[in-house]
Amino acid sequence: MVNKNEQKKTPYLRAYQKYLKEHTAVFDVPGHHQGRIRTDFDKIFTHIVYQNDVNCPRGMDNLAHPTGVIKEAQDLFAKACGADYCKFLINGSTSGNLIMFLSALQANDKVILPRNVHKSAINGLILSGAVPVFIMPEIDKKTEIVNQVSFEEWKKAIDENPDAKAIFIINPTYFGATCDLKKIVNYAHLHDKIVLVDEAHGSHFYFSNKLPISAMKAGADLSTLSIHKTGGSLTQSSVLLVKGKRVSKYSVIKSFNLLTTTSPSSILLASLDAARKYLVFRGSEKIYNAIKLARLAKERIDKIPGFIAHGKDYFIKECDAFSYDETKLCVEVDKLKITGFDLYKLLKDKYQIQIELGETYVFLLLFTIGSNEKDVDRLISALEDISKDYYDPNIVYEDHHYVDGFPKMEVRPRVAYHAPLKVCKLRNAVGKISKEMIMIYPPGIPLIIPGEVFTKEVVDELTYYKNMKANILSDWSASNEVSVIDEKKRKFVKEDFEKDY
Ligand SMILES: Cc1ncc(COP(=O)(O)O)c(C=O)c1O
Repeated sequence: MVNKNEQKKTPYLRAYQKYLKEHTAVFDVPGHHQGRIRTDFDKIFTHIVYQNDVNCPRGMDNLAHPTGVIKEAQDLFAKACGADYCKFLINGSTSGNLIMFLSALQANDKVILPRNVHKSAINGLILSGAVPVFIMPEIDKKTEIVNQVSFEEWKKAIDENPDAKAIFIINPTYFGATCDLKKIVNYAHLHDKIVLVDEAHGSHFYFSNKLPISAMKAGADLSTLSIHKTGGSLTQSSVLLVKGKRVSKYSVIKSFNLLTTTSPSSILLASLDAARKYLVFRGSEKIYNAIKLARLAKERIDKIPGFIAHGKDYFIKECDAFSYDETKLCVEVDKLKITGFDLYKLLKDKYQIQIELGETYVFLLLFTIGSNEKDVDRLISALEDISKDYYDPNIVYEDHHYVDGFPKMEVRPRVAYHAPLKVCKLRNAVGKISKEMIMIYPPGIPLIIPGEVFTKEVVDELTYYKNMKANILSDWSASNEVSVIDEKKRKFVKEDFEKDY
């Protein structure tokens, strides 16, 4: 049980407030000295942002080695989430994933993970040198959404890889699907595997009983939560939670300090302290409100020709999800003359409505503790308008082009990352080993990762997305080129690099 009396405290926020009230003469960083300069920034925002931007002055503790108010605030967060230990993050769950990989795995340790992980998990493989054993998630052919991995698939992978050190689970996926987390955690622990969980989209699970189970409740060892995504703190601010002793606190702190700036933003840290108190006291009511708004929006959207809103029932019945985060609503564009990509742009450019994501056949709406009915009304009237302009019941869509599965991995991501580079035209890449990750953003799930071999399907898919003017992220920025491992060195890379990297 969370001690509500204790949770009323906001130790970091209070120390911060006290410092600001003291009107200190400053001779430390940051160099703008609490806004003693005026920049163009002030024309857009109020000067208050500069005035409140301090680093770690006396009395406000130090994130690298907290012993005072940051430690107290982290401890309160851990207790609110049922964890033994919490670390505040100021570089999102991106750093949370990297820290989890680095603290639980060493080079050549095996880790089992679904292939639809976020790019930061692939970067965790590169940094740690761990060997991935990918399991393939369920792909919904109708909407092209990549979902969860069933308990049976997890069990099979764990049984077939007794030497794997850890497993890595996503709770929930970008689109809101969850797996049978508790059963998978129990099975993994029974087989002596560390359980790491990416809860970038699951912060709110800790503060409502109307949502799927959280990682800590399910007994996982480590989890990263982007509190900024669904928990109400400021962008970038996140937390890493630790439970039990399978991964030592020391390893977590060591990896955290390897990857984290020594100058964290106090504004971000304070927003975590405040969000935790808000979630403990108002979270349940606000999250329920978000669920009710999502249900209401679903009902109204389903009445508009050209749109089918998919909620919990769809993901459980049609996509084999174990459960679903009802604060998300995935809407299929059905018999519209435009794609989800077009709709994403149209909604913003013509109606000033920003949605989470648009893809070929779907778009994604998030309902959060900040959502309100007025915005839902605006969305509905925009969709009604769009329906009038673009709905055509006679449209026959082309066959979906989605590749069934992901490309094969020939060398470990870390090996490919360090291997000799060659640049080639995308159209000539078939058969070559990628040196980079290429993805559509959002959601940031790589279509190919370092070490995987380009197939004709991947090249066609990337060409399709380029033609759709989708937002493609890659390291090699030229639009029709990709970076691959030099073919002449391929044999050498496979034989020698595998040993050394
Ligand atoms: C599944 C998943 N994991 C991790 C991240 C990274 O989170 P953050 O943006 O907090 O760095 C994202 C970001 O969208 C994500 O979708």
